[in-house]
Amino acid sequence: MREFKIALLPGDGIGGEIVNEAVKVLKAIEEKFNHRFKFNDALVGAAAIEETGNPFPEETYLLCKNSDAVLFGAIGDPKYDNDPKAKIRPEQGLLAMRKKLGLFANIRPVTTFPSLLDKSPLRRDIIEGADFVMIRELTGGIYFGELRGRTEDGTKAYDTNVYSKDEISRVTRLAFDYASRRKKRLTAVDKANVLATSRLWRETIQEMEKDYPDITVDYMFVDNAAMQIIQWPKRFDVIVTENMFGDILSDEASVITGSLGMLPSASVGTQTSVYEPIHGSYPQAAGKNIANPLATVLSAAMLLEDSLQLIKEAELIRKAVNVSIEKGILTEDIATGKHYKTSEVGDWLANYILKS
Ligand code: IPM
Ligand code: MG
Repeated sequence: MREFKIALLPGDGIGGEIVNEAVKVLKAIEEKFNHRFKFNDALVGAAAIEETGNPFPEETYLLCKNSDAVLFGAIGDPKYDNDPKAKIRPEQGLLAMRKKLGLFANIRPVTTFPSLLDKSPLRRDIIEGADFVMIRELTGGIYFGELRGRTEDGTKAYDTNVYSKDEISRVTRLAFDYASRRKKRLTAVDKANVLATSRLWRETIQEMEKDYPDITVDYMFVDNAAMQIIQWPKRFDVIVTENMFGDILSDEASVITGSLGMLPSASVGTQTSVYEPIHGSYPQAAGKNIANPLATVLSAAMLLEDSLQLIKEAELIRKAVNVSIEKGILTEDIATGKHYKTSEVGDWLANYILKS
């Protein structure tokens, strides 16, 4: 029997609590389907800075590189958020991980859950049936432009947005492939009316269109896209966009699902893939056993399906999540009436899997 190596990078804030619950669920799958999962922990983010001075230590990188998949919790600590002068920041660990593991695409599926439709501030008729995938470029753009800093007198600062054709086409190819397997519609989001990088994005994607004759491509400026995503979410199938626009639009899109605590993601590239909830480290909730573990549990389902090809196992996790939502076994962010602790939700899901 093959043993699958899963690296666990809980990170900061609620990271440890939510990853714990996902591991409970994965252990239930292991037992139920007779698999062998080997879990190894490593440090990242503020937790890694405290211990090693480095937010993404070499040891963590090597563990990720030598694993079949990585499950990541969250990163960020108010200690650093409130200190813009801090030289080393937890977020650098996440960016270093993305860069070193070559994770050039972040895939964020946006769907709704029938029993959560009324949790969204958006009207039911707008969101019911919404189902799209946001594909965000993850290792380029303004997050990584090397030319950045301040003028000597400290009164001016600059970042640079840089993209090469190769960076654009590799993530777009992946987006076309997703669209081919879905409703065959691709929306490329940019700001080509203002930015040179966006014009290169548009030109590159236009050139690629001929290789995918059955896909309908449309181009949308990011400001317009921000409006359309919440006004008519059902118009979208696959969205592809640069790093910064994707960061912003995917948080916005979580409103459709009802809570930021529900959206999983997969970061894929040239080496091991990383699976993580799209939300942050939610420091106010850390240690209180109240955080919603579902985005991480659903990320674990993506991990099983995409990296380990365990399809029915992933399906069972999604089914368990659906049933828990229907039955109201939910944390306080999405519960109506009685709510449950983070660990109780995990226990319930694991138990459901073992009994089904
Ligand atoms: C995300 C997060 C990160 C990002 C932060 C924590 C650096 O917001 O994964 O979306 O901006 O990429
Ligand atoms: Mg973000």
